[in-house]
Amino acid sequence: MNVIITGASKGIGLAIAKKFALKGFDLALCSRSIEELEIVANQLKKEYSINVIYKAVDLSKKNEAIDFGNFVLNQWEKIDVLINNAGIYIGGEISNEEDGALEAMIQSNLYSAYYLTKTILPKLIENHKGHIINMCSIASKIAYPNGGSYSISKFALLGFSKVLREELKTKNIKVTSILPGATWSNSWAGVDLPKDRIMDAEDIAKVVWSCYDLADNVVVEDITIRPLLGDL
Ligand SMILES: NC(=O)c1ccc[n+]([C@@H]2O[C@H](COP(=O)([O-])OP(=O)(O)OC[C@H]3O[C@@H](n4cnc5c(N)ncnc54)[C@H](OP(=O)(O)O)[C@@H]3O)[C@@H](O)[C@H]2O)c1
Repeated sequence: MNVIITGASKGIGLAIAKKFALKGFDLALCSRSIEELEIVANQLKKEYSINVIYKAVDLSKKNEAIDFGNFVLNQWEKIDVLINNAGIYIGGEISNEEDGALEAMIQSNLYSAYYLTKTILPKLIENHKGHIINMCSIASKIAYPNGGSYSISKFALLGFSKVLREELKTKNIKVTSILPGATWSNSWAGVDLPKDRIMDAEDIAKVVWSCYDLADNVVVEDITIRPLLGDL
């Protein structure tokens, strides 16, 4: 069994990579930093005795998202799971956010998933099997202060995920949208909050695994995960 995970060098993507590695999956990973990917890939190979392929790509660029898809297709006969996790957060409000914030986040948070999925979809359809998991956000369904264009991009990603779900339900391919609230990662570095106010990435990884680990005739369409005390 195998899984493609984007943005797997840290944060939620890394936690998901460890979870699937623990279950014996081979991994195809990407991020922009080759140095971080190399460290992660070597650790996972050593610790879990699995195969890991990886490539440094900037998924916000259409040609690099397609290249990464082809890189995997050239090495794997079949693909079991695709997890579109890579994404960036640039805070602000529409009235004051930096110029280009909308474009940057639409490219990194939406086009990345769109073009990678589009590249590997023919293989999933040919095999009549697969599971695509898209890392959306609470910001995919509610607007919040300082959410700005991040929220716009995550609403769009949820829209993409829902369209895919409808298109693929008769093709035996599952589509799941994950909507986490605040989860510890670099985006929260320096924020002065009690540790238990923000979720651990490992908990998001457990939910992702649970969504995957179900009978063939069952799909989790979307799932919301929040800190017990609610949104920040
Ligand atoms: N943390 C939260 O509170 C939270 C809540 C809801 C949803 N999410 C979503 O969860 C996902 C993961 O977030 P995280 O908090 O784990 O962030 P993170 O710790 O910053 O990790 C993001 C990962 O994506 C990679 N990445 C970013 N832009 C990329 C690009 N253009 N091409 C390829 N790789 C790229 C990063 O590596 P490089 O920088 O080396 O490229 C890194 O591996 C994101 O989609 C985020 O929007 C996060």
